[in-house]
Amino acid sequence: MKIVTKEKTITSSKEAKDFLGKYGLYAEFWEPEEVDPSISDALVRFKSQIEKLKKKFGYASADVCELNTKSPNLDKILEPFMKEHHHTDDEVRFTAEGEGIFGINPLVDPPFKIYVEKGDLLVVPANTRHWFELTEKKNIQCIRVFKENPKWEAIY
Ligand SMILES: [Fe+2]
Repeated sequence: MKIVTKEKTITSSKEAKDFLGKYGLYAEFWEPEEVDPSISDALVRFKSQIEKLKKKFGYASADVCELNTKSPNLDKILEPFMKEHHHTDDEVRFTAEGEGIFGINPLVDPPFKIYVEKGDLLVVPANTRHWFELTEKKNIQCIRVFKENPKWEAIY
């Protein structure tokens, strides 16, 4: 995880957690506990961490979302994510493969960017203004964790 603000770039995990905490965001860094290379399902590889997270924040379900150059209509899919919005639920994303960029507008301070990569969990709390974009590699596989069943409403 790397955070880029107007003034500085943060690369240390500890500093990143502290910085995000100031704005109510939360991060963890996960290693797969199940390292059997034949297991490709991220929900299996990170099962215990997902369960711990669900207990900690009262989340109920999880799924996997993949975006890459093979996704049909990738640009169309990305368009709504790239516009600043918020949700009435937390946006919980664990990057299992690939990379992405979350933009956060804390309103009280200038916007900043969080570059997420494999192993990064990010919780963007409800009502936080944010957007999401892919990097040049255009490849991410995310575990999404939800309070209830997936709610899709974005408020622009
Ligand atoms: Fe969102």
